Amino acid sequence: MSNTVYVLNGPNLNLLGLREPEIYGHTTLDEIAGMLEDQAREHGLTIDMRQTNHEGMLVDWLHEAQAEGARAVLLNAAAYTHTSIALLDAIKAITTPVVEVHLSNPKTREEFRHISFIGMASAKTVEGHGPESYRIALEAVTSGEV
Ligand code: DQA
Repeated sequence: MSNTVYVLNGPNLNLLGLREPEIYGHTTLDEIAGMLEDQAREHGLTIDMRQTNHEGMLVDWLHEAQAEGARAVLLNAAAYTHTSIALLDAIKAITTPVVEVHLSNPKTREEFRHISFIGMASAKTVEGHGPESYRIALEAVTSGEV
């Protein structure tokens, strides 16, 4: 197993910091990456932070995480969380533990966000803590919970 934790981010998260700040806050994805890198380093781990607006790319990256022997995947699939059986199947197809991450708490928002296909196969879900959700998710990995 490698020391790398993949942090995969889905559609529109490239606009984090600008996008609906009243929901998602002002922190950018680059800032979250920096925070996670510091946190990971303390535990001898490396972060591989990526973002895509394309569903199939997330599927490919999940397969890659397995092939590369990643320690774990933190996955904020954004809107694909609520629609993507392909991502559910990809998580089920790999043995790499996946932690579902959300900045907001989708369960307290519109009804169409209440279903999570990602959550059906993830080792853990962390949601509703803003950028801290990523930190808590990585902590679940470094503590050995996941
Ligand atoms: C999100 C929640 C999703 O419902 C939404 O589509 C996103 C971001 C979050 O991090 O809070 O794009 O995953």
